[in-house]
Amino acid sequence: MSKQKETKKFYIETYGCQMNVADSEVIATVLTENDFVQTKDIESADIILINTCAIREHAEQRVYGRLDYFNSLKKKNTKLKIGIVGCMAERLKDELLEKKPFIDLIAGPDAYRHLPEMFETTESGQKAVNVLLSKEETYEDILPTRYDSNGISAFISITRGCDNMCTYCVVPFTRGRERSRLPEDILKEIDAVKNDGFKEVTIIGQNVDKYLYEDKNRKVNFPALLEMVATRIPEMRVRFSTSYPQDFNEEVVLTMTKYPNICRYIHLPVQSGSNKILNLMKRGYTREWYLDRIAMIRKHLPDCAISTDIISGFCDETEADHQDTLALMKEVQFDFAYMFKYSERPGTFAAKRLQDNVPETEKKRRLNEIINLQSRLSLNSNEKDIGKTFEVLVEGVSKKSPDNYFGRNSQNKVIVFPKAETKIGELAQVKVTHVSSATLIGKVVSPENS
Ligand code: 5AD
Ligand code: SF4
Repeated sequence: MSKQKETKKFYIETYGCQMNVADSEVIATVLTENDFVQTKDIESADIILINTCAIREHAEQRVYGRLDYFNSLKKKNTKLKIGIVGCMAERLKDELLEKKPFIDLIAGPDAYRHLPEMFETTESGQKAVNVLLSKEETYEDILPTRYDSNGISAFISITRGCDNMCTYCVVPFTRGRERSRLPEDILKEIDAVKNDGFKEVTIIGQNVDKYLYEDKNRKVNFPALLEMVATRIPEMRVRFSTSYPQDFNEEVVLTMTKYPNICRYIHLPVQSGSNKILNLMKRGYTREWYLDRIAMIRKHLPDCAISTDIISGFCDETEADHQDTLALMKEVQFDFAYMFKYSERPGTFAAKRLQDNVPETEKKRRLNEIINLQSRLSLNSNEKDIGKTFEVLVEGVSKKSPDNYFGRNSQNKVIVFPKAETKIGELAQVKVTHVSSATLIGKVVSPENS
């Protein structure tokens, strides 16, 4: 009589970008389809997986800390298997094998289909490693399990990889070449999240503007895909991220103007306001080009919120370059920004050819100035919303004040308001009464009072 295979419980922890969240959902599907069962209780897991980010050194340090904790669990349960997946697995395979010998499995972003066999290999005490990058893998036939979402907002990846080669960035090395998914597969995922009751989708890629699906009969570019998505789910909100200034074009904005369910929010990372630094970063655009993109957005969509990413203290950045960044921020009046200190990443062009020559204290000082300025700009932007009424998708109960709900408006701003008759997952009309630099505060109004 054959012995019945034991069902293994896996626990998965995710770090890094939205892409990693989407990838963890793919991993969960691959494993559950192969008779593994997901658990949210780390102590009862037979397998712990950590999906990692390599974008800054700090992100990697956090993962090392978690790995040591997992090892302490392994000492109590010697059968426990530990797997590291994602960008850090891709970048540091050899170092991880050497420095963290308790790791059983290492899988790069294109190896997730093979995880079941890889775990099989680890059963006999061997290590399983697959960090091969593929030119084709898009996990097209895998319908992700949205195990950790709020049930309201889902992320759907439309491209994988990146061909841009910005000189500071590790992503092209960890995620490989750019690939676009088949439009029908994306729409299938859209239908699935709609049927599951989700109210909003964000279509994601490292550079969504490069989305291109071509075969003998047709060519679908990003604006065309955006239109297909918006018309497929007119009753749901559609967001997209991330846009790339060099490729971001008027066609995308015109598509947005046609469909009110495409949210009025664009994330357009500028990185620096200095042409010298943009050139060293090989971003492929100038400050003037960027400002022209902003003017184009404002012309067609005056109520569109714009956010950005900024890096402080890149190689050879002088005080004058830094001042150019501050001036650009003021000129654009960003509604929100993600701001980082430059962190040299081994293997990148900058690590090989440029000097990481801005002292750490100076990087920090400049970053603080950038953060302080952005907080003033965000406050200015929020103050302009006082008295306005927005349609808000209610996402949940506010963590800080349990009598309040929180949600987002089309511009992606978080609004907190007393519960009233609305429900989580519904749209509410909320009038803004107070603001801080981070949040709008308001109250529910009926449409005729808005
Ligand atoms: N150091 C600091 N920030 C970085 N980013 C990417 N690479 C680095 C790096 N080496 C930032 C960029 C990017 C965001 C996702 O992370 O601003 O847009
Ligand atoms: Fe995402 Fe880039 Fe981090 Fe990889 S390195 S997880 S692609 S942010």
